[in-house]
Amino acid sequence: MMEDRAHLVLWCEVNMPIGIPEIDHQHRQLLDTINLLHAAIREKWPNPSVLPLATSLLEQTQRHFLTETPYLQNLCDQQQRLHQLNHKHFLQAMQAFIERLASDVGMSSLSVKEQLASLAEWYSSHILSSDRELQPA
Ligand SMILES: [Fe+2]
Ligand SMILES: [Fe+2]
Repeated sequence: MMEDRAHLVLWCEVNMPIGIPEIDHQHRQLLDTINLLHAAIREKWPNPSVLPLATSLLEQTQRHFLTETPYLQNLCDQQQRLHQLNHKHFLQAMQAFIERLASDVGMSSLSVKEQLASLAEWYSSHILSSDRELQPA
């Protein structure tokens, strides 16, 4: 059984900042939006505010990946490709989540929470691992 916490993801000031202020700021905002989504699903389900929040998370994510693009230039070709591919797969997963939210009216609250939890896990682990590659030397 999934644990039902008030916050799905927490910003960790110790190991999450990578030292690029605009990226750190966006990472915090992304985690905030995930927590808002989680709170909306917990509050009631179905909840009409969930789809617009998920769409806003997707748009924030697209802008964020564009912000990261110039910083990827400092990496070797293979690392750049893998990082971009990781972003691309994540956007596809996010889009699939939104399509399910929009079309599957009978989706259970547990299923929505689990799908959001797996997206949230991707964010945290990407920030804690891959995005460290962007850290200034
Ligand atoms: Fe990032
Ligand atoms: Fe990234």
